[in-house]
Amino acid sequence: MKIYIKTYGCQMNENDSEVAKYYLEIEGYEITDDEESADIVILNTCVVRKKAEEKFYSAIGEFKKKNKKIGIMGCGADKEKENLFKRGVDFIVGTRAIPRISEAVEYSLKNKKVAFFDDLLDEIDYKKIIKRNSKHHAWITIIYGCNRFCTYCIVPYTRGREKSRKMEDILSEASNLAKTGIKEITYLGQNVDAYGKDLNDGSSLAKLLHKTAEIPQIERIWFLTSYPTDFSLDIAKEISKSNKIGKNIHLPVQHGSNKILKKMNRRYTIEEYKELIKNIREIVPDASITSDIIVGFPDESEEDFLNTVKLVKEIKFERLNLAIYSPREGTIAWKFFQDNVPRIIKTRRMAYLLNLQKEINRALNEKYLEREVEVIVESEGKNGIFYGRDIRNKIIGFNASAEMIGKKVLVKIKKITAGPLYGDIVKLL
Ligand code: SAH
Ligand code: SF4
Ligand code: F3S
Repeated sequence: MKIYIKTYGCQMNENDSEVAKYYLEIEGYEITDDEESADIVILNTCVVRKKAEEKFYSAIGEFKKKNKKIGIMGCGADKEKENLFKRGVDFIVGTRAIPRISEAVEYSLKNKKVAFFDDLLDEIDYKKIIKRNSKHHAWITIIYGCNRFCTYCIVPYTRGREKSRKMEDILSEASNLAKTGIKEITYLGQNVDAYGKDLNDGSSLAKLLHKTAEIPQIERIWFLTSYPTDFSLDIAKEISKSNKIGKNIHLPVQHGSNKILKKMNRRYTIEEYKELIKNIREIVPDASITSDIIVGFPDESEEDFLNTVKLVKEIKFERLNLAIYSPREGTIAWKFFQDNVPRIIKTRRMAYLLNLQKEINRALNEKYLEREVEVIVESEGKNGIFYGRDIRNKIIGFNASAEMIGKKVLVKIKKITAGPLYGDIVKLL
């Protein structure tokens, strides 16, 4: 029985797919990369915006036509429960019920439709889940859920409340992975800085980063996503003291206007956000700060938008994920605010910011020319160019060979763009 898993959405879903794979393989199912030959297709879904939702619904249609059995996991399972069986889905497994995935498959083979939404997070035995999609990099979820309830966001409804994993458990997972050749890990949480707060045993992200850096084989440690008022400067201090912790802080601001931030229920002002960035940069002068911004939130006036423009110009983010506001059923914004910024204005504002950010990226990248940076070789891209990242999370392309994947090299930058940087390998490190 062959199963194909297709993963949409964020890194947390990627990690969940790896967990699902483990639970399927121990029951004897074969996981395939070839969707055509699969008997069962599991879609690990995302519903953060309407477009993401439409993507997996259209995949359901495609796979139905090919007569595959279809299972749904991920945030779409939790948000779309009622609608999925109507679309012909065979089984549904909620974000916290992954250990039951093989049981769900079994039922579907007997033509019984099942949906599991139990909270089985405590049952997940991470010590045993050492197989990852990459040979040298591993995602590790350290805190589940989110308590923030930003008014536009569906995530607290799909992933539930914050729940941290025990620090010993995470560290033993990281050590086990290191023994299998993993050199780079990324700690994940929707609000990763809240890590440890619910454990009441003194655990924190700063401590976890510190301890992880002590694992000899681990060469780089990343963490995602930071929430401004939960971010502790202790984390910045750990970054400044270590040459293993990535100097990239992904700190979504979402908007540049206090009026809109308030309506979004983001619990900070622009002044506080800027102060935080200033403090981070004092501790880690070459920190790469990246962010997410939503354009066209309800009641966003031209003046509000210009405040976002002003902020983007002032902070000079190293990367920006821009999204047009998409109302999500069940959220506060969907219930109480009108999606009243006309489509054409939303697209114009989005295009303006995209352009502005491109210029900023190019200007920021100038400083890299002729610089030598340490890069871990990640993967082969188009035209035989290999890609990897430096400690600031910059994507760097160079000529290499497949056996160098996972190795650390010194690259001299020869060409910059608004996106990746390009250079030549100077030596193997
Ligand atoms: N936990 C992270 C991000 C979660 S979702 C945080 O707090 O920032 C990833 C990004 O999607 C968000 O940062 C936000 O910019 C965007 N997003 C979430 N809901 C959205 C919506 N309804 N419409 C448009 N963008 C949205
Ligand atoms: Fe969504 Fe806000 Fe939680 Fe991020 S912090 S996951 S945007 S509710
Ligand atoms: Fe999408 Fe859920 Fe991640 S909605 S972005 S898969 S947390």
